[in-house]
Amino acid sequence: MNFLNIAKKRYSVRSYNSQNVEPEKLDKILEAAHIAPTAANLQPVRLLVIQEKEGLDKISKAANIYNAPLAIIVCSDHSIAWKRPFDNKQTTDIDASILTDHMMLEATELGLGSVWICYFKPDVIKEEFNLSDNLEPVNILAIGYSDEKPASLTRHEETRIPLSDLVSYYK
Ligand SMILES: Cc1cc2nc3c(=O)[nH]c(=O)nc-3n(C[C@H](O)[C@H](O)[C@H](O)COP(=O)(O)O)c2cc1C
Repeated sequence: MNFLNIAKKRYSVRSYNSQNVEPEKLDKILEAAHIAPTAANLQPVRLLVIQEKEGLDKISKAANIYNAPLAIIVCSDHSIAWKRPFDNKQTTDIDASILTDHMMLEATELGLGSVWICYFKPDVIKEEFNLSDNLEPVNILAIGYSDEKPASLTRHEETRIPLSDLVSYYK
């Protein structure tokens, strides 16, 4: 499948069946994260993979992951983050999100559904998973087999702003 087709096929899945994600597929999703670019190649991102009931129950205290059988908590490591010297802007959220997007699209390619989650209680995640102070949970990616009707490949015509509003050409 070419890239645009994968990107169009992906949609946020909020209902999963009980089938687990195969270990080979999880490995490919993690490989997609591993090869993602980060600012200055500092790689200030750490991934926590949750598949066991105990961990999924812990996540549920902080977020709705829609009963997905697999969740990956994407954390930024502020101790190794790159800072832009002019204004000290840290790129940790950007780095974490590039890894998240790589994993999400690889999951789509593998026939899996996913949903990107930011609506969670970070303090609860930090406490439940004993995250060290330098780690900030930025995104949670829930993954599994969709129980929903696949979304239309042309839905973006209605669900996205017009390309002409998104893009302007400087002249
Ligand atoms: C940064 C980010 C945070 C998101 N957080 C949540 C969330 O907490 N819960 C949720 O159900 N969906 C979440 N989503 C999914 C968006 O609502 C969804 O991507 C958007 O409505 C477009 O729909 P689509 O993914 O089906 O194309 C998030 C997406 C992004 C990119």
